[in-house]
Amino acid sequence: MNLVKHLRVLVVDDLEDIQELLAFMLQSSFHATIETFSSGNQAIERLKKEPSFDLIVSDYQMPDGSGLDVFKFLKSQQQNTPFLFLSGNDLKYELELQRAEGWKQINKPFTEQALLSAVSAALAPETPGELSSKYVPVRLQLVERMGKLNAPLFVKINEQKMVQLTTDESDFTPEMAQKYRDKKIEHFFVREDHVEPFIHEFQKKVISEDAWASVDVNDLPEVFSMNVELMRDISEKLGWKDSALKLAEQCLQRALAIVARQPSLDKFIQRFHKIERLGYADHCVLTALTAAGILKNLELQDEDALKKLTFASIFHDATLNDIQYENKRKFLKNITKGDVNSSKDLRDVHSHAINSSELCRQWVFCPIGVEGIILDHHENGAGTGFPNGKVADQISDLAKIFIVAEDFVEFFTEFNGKVPVKDYKRLRQDQFPHQSFQKIIYSLLKDVPEDQVA
Ligand SMILES: [Fe+2]
Ligand SMILES: [Fe+2]
Repeated sequence: MNLVKHLRVLVVDDLEDIQELLAFMLQSSFHATIETFSSGNQAIERLKKEPSFDLIVSDYQMPDGSGLDVFKFLKSQQQNTPFLFLSGNDLKYELELQRAEGWKQINKPFTEQALLSAVSAALAPETPGELSSKYVPVRLQLVERMGKLNAPLFVKINEQKMVQLTTDESDFTPEMAQKYRDKKIEHFFVREDHVEPFIHEFQKKVISEDAWASVDVNDLPEVFSMNVELMRDISEKLGWKDSALKLAEQCLQRALAIVARQPSLDKFIQRFHKIERLGYADHCVLTALTAAGILKNLELQDEDALKKLTFASIFHDATLNDIQYENKRKFLKNITKGDVNSSKDLRDVHSHAINSSELCRQWVFCPIGVEGIILDHHENGAGTGFPNGKVADQISDLAKIFIVAEDFVEFFTEFNGKVPVKDYKRLRQDQFPHQSFQKIIYSLLKDVPEDQVA
């Protein structure tokens, strides 16, 4: 090991014994000064004073500020300190970490060997010289077709140097394609560790588009229960024309036909054969219809957006079981009060947005972007939603439309259509204070007939 440098390491764990053990193990092998903290928030306070450590080793789950909170704080300060999480769960499935760089996991329970090799790997400088073997070439035409890449793209300057062109968040636009074509650049590179997400994204795009196109719209199976009467009732109250209804229904049939082709989803699709007033199927169908109507009123109705909102409607509560679904109003109330942990059902309901989103991310037939909408479907833009307490700027427009559509359906269902729909705006003023949400609520209600009572 060539780590002769004096290291400054920050160790965070809520258990004092683990802090001591980590400090001991690290000091036994490295020339290191260790500072220990027993919560994420304490560590953040320390980092606010001085962020420059050589390494951070942190427990992932802690009651007062998690390891993820510390990691996010560091990133917000543009610090790239190598970060090691200690966790018993596989963190590569944590949505917030999937797109982030600069972290590694040490599995709990950990051995000294595992800790020390993870630390050495995290601190080792990139080995120059074998550049090309660590990057995989990808043609311009391909990245152009993909649009959203899910992996940073590099261009080769010479045998020793790659320059990063895009982040994994950025889109590859037609303008960029033109620019590189003009420069006669035909190949880009994806780093080896990004190849898997890159291929997944590519597959998802190709397969989901192909699946959508392969459903014959003139020959849709009439096998799914669509409570047409209820759909008509809600659209009449909103003052919506039959045409909005038809289009939404067609999209739903098409999406459900795709889902029905997945043998592993047999059980899930049964929920759409069940005729049960205001049950799971009605909830999804009405959400899709409402989202489609809002899109139309906002003049944003394109097929791609409609498709994403439809899939999001079908799957957003997919990981809730029947009992959790039936009692979700009660569970959601508890979560709003801050109780997220007192029973398994409550924990499942609290994590259903993350879990359902993760399923959609994995399913290649599901259009790209659905996972993001589902992840945010219990956010409210005021920072008090879950799972991430996002503010309005952190939520996409499509997700906002979905949030309002789903919530409106909840409102409609709760009052069984007996409260005038225009009261929705007043009743939800506090829940969605941000003007971007108010604008969506305005478009939702803009055609409501003036004389409507209930
Ligand atoms: Fe829902
Ligand atoms: Fe939900």
